Amino acid sequence: MAQKIIKYDYSFMSSAKVGKFGFKKAELAQLGKKLAGINKKLVALSNNPDLSFRQLPYDQGAVKLVLNLASRLKCQFTNLVVVGIGGSDLGARAIYQALAGNYGCCLARPKAMAVHFLGDTTDPQPTADILKLLDIKKTIFYIVSKSGDTIEPLTNFLYLREQVIKKVGAKKQKEHFIITTNDKQGGLLEIAKKEKYLILPHSEIGGRYSVLSVNGLLMAACAGFNIRQLLTGAQAIDKICQSNNYQTNLPYLWATVQYLAYTKRRQNISVIMPYTYYLREFGFWAKQLLGESLGKTKRGFTPIAAIGPTDQHSQMQLYIQGPYDKIITFIQVKKLESLKVPRYSNSEVAYLGNHKFSEILNIEHKATAVSLMKNKRPNGTIILPELNEFYLGQLFYFFEMATVYLGELLKVNVFDQPGVEQSKKYMYGLLGRKGYEKDKKEILKSHLTLAKI
Ligand code: PA5
Repeated sequence: MAQKIIKYDYSFMSSAKVGKFGFKKAELAQLGKKLAGINKKLVALSNNPDLSFRQLPYDQGAVKLVLNLASRLKCQFTNLVVVGIGGSDLGARAIYQALAGNYGCCLARPKAMAVHFLGDTTDPQPTADILKLLDIKKTIFYIVSKSGDTIEPLTNFLYLREQVIKKVGAKKQKEHFIITTNDKQGGLLEIAKKEKYLILPHSEIGGRYSVLSVNGLLMAACAGFNIRQLLTGAQAIDKICQSNNYQTNLPYLWATVQYLAYTKRRQNISVIMPYTYYLREFGFWAKQLLGESLGKTKRGFTPIAAIGPTDQHSQMQLYIQGPYDKIITFIQVKKLESLKVPRYSNSEVAYLGNHKFSEILNIEHKATAVSLMKNKRPNGTIILPELNEFYLGQLFYFFEMATVYLGELLKVNVFDQPGVEQSKKYMYGLLGRKGYEKDKKEILKSHLTLAKI
């Protein structure tokens, strides 16, 4: 039986619907001709470590390892705390919210550990609070940092380690940490080796393309999700990416529509707006993927993570009547809980009676999409039959491949992030790390007042 694939409805992005603010059919067809060449190039580069994220959906070794480890952890612990930032954090958060919801930690979910996230800030409050909430003896901390040198997760890790030692003693503490980092260098690797923590090596893939590696999979398996289905979903999109037909290769189609908006019509703000609450974190993941991958050499979209219907009452006024600089991608989930609104007869609100919440949500999406279109604001919708592991795997891989395709069209290396390196060096310098004395001098000279704080 053919597998179901998510859909992309892009009709409201076209000039037929939004006039000069939309793409012309001929432009799309023209770009479609480039797909075969791009796919050929990607196949030729498939041994490049950056592109090895394309092998993740097929990595049965990782599945076995993760499932075995997760079933052992579930016997020993009730809580998992993931400690990471950026690409080492956002994907796992997105999976957990999409599949366990906002109350996943409070609801009793059979054969599932409660998952919490820390490490994406040095604000002490979340760390202090989580330690008040959790019984350390029943908690495993999963520290993820590809470089092993990132200040936010390291700060948290060192503090958590001390707290765990206080609670369970120096000998037993090592059972409470699992480390994922590169196998060559970095502060985290140094400590992990010295302390004999369990290390799950970080693949060579960059953080924002690593959600389907052990980084996201270990959390997902501990949380009781079907990791095989996540990967099968990604495989399904990988398969359509092998097509050189731009109309069936949905990630390429999405990329070309975005590219045309950016290059031909100066629409350089790309809004990702799921119409389901539990894809809010997914929006943050996608925002990082698009922003950090494409924003360089003076190019790139400014991605915005919005959420429907909340932002109908916040951002939508701007999207409908502000500058013509935005394109919007809605994400719609067809099958949702079947709660119904009870009827309150003989009242102003009687019209709401007997409508399902999901029906109202779909109406809100439709009304917004059409209003935007009427005001010549291009928008499209990615449609998921339901929010489960299979379609979530598709969604992740869809955006990863769309980003790679956009990088090819825009001639941008989507796998590096040179722009954020200098501020890291300044931070190391100000914090007294060896080797960063020059950076310290430079920042003290240029920003004396701030540096004194
Ligand atoms: O996508 C990326 O590569 C970055 O966002 C990194 O994930 C982020 O900077 C964290 O780096 P690290 O995993 O080395 O701690």
